[in-house]
Amino acid sequence: MIFKWKDRFNTGIDEIDKQHKRLFEIGAELYDLASLDDSSDHYDEIVGLINHLKEYTKYHFDYEELCMHKVNYRDIESHKIEHQRFIDKLNETEAKDIDLNQKQVVLDMIDFIINWVSGHIVGTDFKYKDLLIEKLGK
Ligand SMILES: [Fe+2]
Ligand SMILES: [Fe+2]
Repeated sequence: MIFKWKDRFNTGIDEIDKQHKRLFEIGAELYDLASLDDSSDHYDEIVGLINHLKEYTKYHFDYEELCMHKVNYRDIESHKIEHQRFIDKLNETEAKDIDLNQKQVVLDMIDFIINWVSGHIVGTDFKYKDLLIEKLGK
């Protein structure tokens, strides 16, 4: 299962780790739904889950950015740009694309999400973790 959480993604900050895990869970739900081979149309459910994923991603980014503000993290602007680019990319997946080629669009999207989220956690979120733990605790 590509959406399996790995210990190496842990920042050590409880709330952030909880939110990251939730993103993986929503991704896994989406993957399971897109992988169903029962010939029925899951269009509405898939669109609903994608919207849920977008909303939760936004919620997580807002939370993270607030934490970075609180501790005067110096790389906050470049971090926010990475977040915004990801949101823009998610928004590119319009409902009409899903309707035309449902399975492939969703699987491609999941592939993109897992790569982005895991890369962003380890490569970018990790840069604030020591400062956050020092100033705000775990
Ligand atoms: Fe994050
Ligand atoms: Fe982040």
